[in-house]
Amino acid sequence: MTNIILLGPPGAGKGTQARRLVEERGMVQLSTGDMLREAMSSGTEMGKKVADVMNRGELVTDEIVIGLIEEKLGAAQGTGFIFDGFPRTLPQADALGKLLARTGQKLNAVIEMRVDDEALVRRITGRFTCGDCGEVYHDETKPVKEAGKCDECGSSNLKRRADDNEESLKQRLMEYYKKTSPLIGYYYHAGDLFSVDGLAEIDEVAAQMAAVLDQQAG
Ligand code: AP5
Repeated sequence: MTNIILLGPPGAGKGTQARRLVEERGMVQLSTGDMLREAMSSGTEMGKKVADVMNRGELVTDEIVIGLIEEKLGAAQGTGFIFDGFPRTLPQADALGKLLARTGQKLNAVIEMRVDDEALVRRITGRFTCGDCGEVYHDETKPVKEAGKCDECGSSNLKRRADDNEESLKQRLMEYYKKTSPLIGYYYHAGDLFSVDGLAEIDEVAAQMAAVLDQQAG
């Protein structure tokens, strides 16, 4: 089992790379953003509670996201977990360490995806996803081959996220620098931190990540 965290600001490419690792290595993607959006669209009490917070670009409480991860960790089966968008605060990082230890597992690598803010604005404002299979696209860098149709599953349910606008992004970036970036030092001190160039092309980022994973597995 190889367990990794993908760490990076909104739009760094965490989801894009996580989906490749699922496909290529049979790993399990645990995205707290996807879990929260699922709760929002299914209209659960928790979903209603977090909708405004997410749309404003603020972080949901530690208690809620730790609960979601705990639930999924117990149920998922695969060749390792990809934590995508979790942890995002120091208490979340501590909680994850304890959860993994309790199930006899360890963290193999934390991969920091380095990007700059200018690229993030372009990536976020051009992003759309398939509402059926979750494939991630971009107006310029990864358009669909046939207008209005998902390349992967053929669905025409292509959507843009409510928080993918410049105003929410500003708040999301502030939250990242204030509450999430301290995790870089936290995992560096633990000896778990690796960095990749998130500004490189998608295939090149994937190759850099594969090198880290192979080194950790071998
Ligand atoms: P979440 O869903 O986790 O969003 P995020 O962290 O803001 O990250 P994104 O999904 O926006 O970006 P990404 O890095 O996955 O980029 P992607 O691959 O899509 O969180 C949303 C909200 O939920 C938070 O604001 C918060 O409210 C709440 N939340 C979630 N987790 C939480 C937690 N743990 N604690 C508290 N609150 C939490 O790529 C972006 C675009 O760029 C795409 O169009 C893609 O095609 C393109 N692209 C990707 N890679 C490249 C590349 N190398 N070159 C060119 N284009 C690229």
